[in-house]
Amino acid sequence: MSESKEEKFVKLQIDGVEVHARSTDNILRAALDNDIEIPYYCWHPALSVPASCRLCLVEIDEWNPKSGLYQRNPKLIPSCQYQVRQNLRVWTKTEKVLANRRAVMEFYLLNHPLDCPICDKAGECFLQDYSYRHGNAQSRMIEPKTIQPKKDLSEHVLIYSDRCILCGRCVRFCREISGKGELAIVNRGDRCEIDQFSGRTMHEMSGNVCDICPVGSLTDKEFLFRERVWYLTSHPSVCAGCATGCTIWADHRDERLARFRPRFNPKVNDFWMCDLGRYLWKNTYRPDRLMRYHAGKKFYRADQVADLVDHTLRNFKNQHGEGKLAAVLSPMLDNELIYMICKVVRQIDPNAFLIPGPQVVDAPDKKFKSGFTISSDRTPNIAGVKKILARFGGNQADLSQIAFDKLRGLWITGGYFATPLDQLIPLPVKPDMLIVQDSFVSRLSEMADVILPMAIWLEREGSFTNRQEMIQLFQRVVIPPMGMVQDGHWLARMVGLKGTYRAEILRSELAEFLGGFDIYEPPKLGRLFH
Ligand code: SF4
Ligand code: SF4
Ligand code: FES
Repeated sequence: MSESKEEKFVKLQIDGVEVHARSTDNILRAALDNDIEIPYYCWHPALSVPASCRLCLVEIDEWNPKSGLYQRNPKLIPSCQYQVRQNLRVWTKTEKVLANRRAVMEFYLLNHPLDCPICDKAGECFLQDYSYRHGNAQSRMIEPKTIQPKKDLSEHVLIYSDRCILCGRCVRFCREISGKGELAIVNRGDRCEIDQFSGRTMHEMSGNVCDICPVGSLTDKEFLFRERVWYLTSHPSVCAGCATGCTIWADHRDERLARFRPRFNPKVNDFWMCDLGRYLWKNTYRPDRLMRYHAGKKFYRADQVADLVDHTLRNFKNQHGEGKLAAVLSPMLDNELIYMICKVVRQIDPNAFLIPGPQVVDAPDKKFKSGFTISSDRTPNIAGVKKILARFGGNQADLSQIAFDKLRGLWITGGYFATPLDQLIPLPVKPDMLIVQDSFVSRLSEMADVILPMAIWLEREGSFTNRQEMIQLFQRVVIPPMGMVQDGHWLARMVGLKGTYRAEILRSELAEFLGGFDIYEPPKLGRLFH
C-alpha cells in the first residue's frame, strides 16, 4: 500500500554522517530510517504533509554550482516537506535548530493541562517525551490556560480538546484514509478545536485516530483509565476478525488483555485496523466460554484429552466401519491445527470426510478511500482450510451437500465469535458420536458426547492464510483459562510429536505436505516512528 516498486537511492549527510535514502523520501523520513531523531508531530508516513507543527525544522547546506561551495540556507526548513537530494547536508542539532524546538515546545505547552498523572497516553506521549528531551524545564505562562470541552466523537472515541496540539493528523486521516471527512478544526487562535460535522458519526475505522494522535487528546473509551501503558507487554499477532488478516499488536498485563493496536503491514493493512477487529479481544472474557473437557458427566484433565479423543474415534470406527466419520474444519482454526486434526482423523479412518466449516459472510466488502478493506468474510482462514483439505484429497464435501443424517460420527470445530455454532451448522439429528470443539456454549455443545473447549487464537500460536493467500504468524499472547491448554498440545501428542508443542515445529512438515509454506513477515518500522 505505501511502498513504491522502483526505488532510486541518493547519498546525503545528516549531522556529518553519510546516509542513504530513497530519492522520494523527505529529510525526516531519511533521518528516522537511519535512527537519527528529529522530533515531529504533524507528519505521518501515510498522510499528506501540511508542515504545520514546525517542530521538525532543520538547517541545510546546499551545493552552489556557481561558487563551487556549500551554502547554508538562511532559513530553517521543515524536514518533513523537503525532499532529499544527492550530497545534501542536513544539520539537526545546531543552536538555531535547538532554539526553535524549545520555542515550539513552549508554545505547545502554553495551554496544555497538567494531566499526565491521569492521562491514558502517559508513557507513550510525544508531548511528554519531546518536552523532556527538547523543551524547557519551566513554563513562563502566568495567564490562566484556555479550558476546552471533552466530547464524544463516536461509540469508541472521546476527545479531551484541551490536550490537543492541533497537529491535524486525525482530520487528515478522516479525509485521506477513511474518506468520510467527519472531523475538522474549527474556530481561530487559541479557541481552535477539533470538532465533528454535525450529523456525521465517525466511521468503522475510528479507533485509528487514537493511535495516531501524538498526545492524549483522542482516547479510546474501551481503554480509558484501564491501564498504565508501561505495565503492558506487546505481542505480534494477526486479527481474526475477517479474511483481510490485519497484523496487530496485542497488549496485555499479567495475562489480562488490554487492547489491540495495528502493526505496520504495507501489503495488507498499512498502519490501520477496523473497529470490528480492534475489540475482538473482549471475546476472551465472555461468560459463555467453554472451559472444561468432558464426555457425558465425566471431566478430563488436559493431559487426558489426547487419549479421550483417540479412544472415542477408534471405538466409533470399530462399531461403524470406515467412511461414516466426518470432521468439519472451522476457518477460525489456524493452519497447524487444521493439519493435525485432518491427520488424526485420516490416521484412524482413511475414508473419513473432511469438510470446510462455514464462512460467515456478513455484508459486502467495505472498502475505504485508501484501499483498506474490511472483508465480507468474517473468518480469518478459509483459504488455509481449503488449501490443506485439497491436499488431503479423498472424501471431501461441501457443508451444504453433506447429508448429516447419513453420517454416524461428527467432529465439529467452531470458534466463531458472532454466531453460535448451531446456527451455522444446524444438525437435523444427533449422530451416534458427536465431538464438539468450540470456544463458546451452543446447542451443539449441549448435545455433544465429547466437549473440547477451544482456546481463542490469542491463547494459541499458529498461522492464518488470508484472502490474498498470505500466510502470517501469530504468537500466543495470553495463557488459556485455568485447566485448559492450547489445542495444539493434545493434538501434537495424537500425531506423534514429542515434547512441548510449538507451532513452528510443524511448519517444515506442513511445507513438505503442501509443497511450500511461505510465511510473510511485514517489515518493522524504526523505533523513532509514531
Ligand atoms: S486530536 Fe490529536 S491527532 Fe487530532 S489534531 Fe489534536 S493532537 Fe492532532
Ligand atoms: S479489516 Fe478484518 S482483519 Fe483487519 S482489523 Fe478489521 S476485522 Fe480485523
Ligand atoms: S512534522 Fe514537519 S512541520 Fe510538523
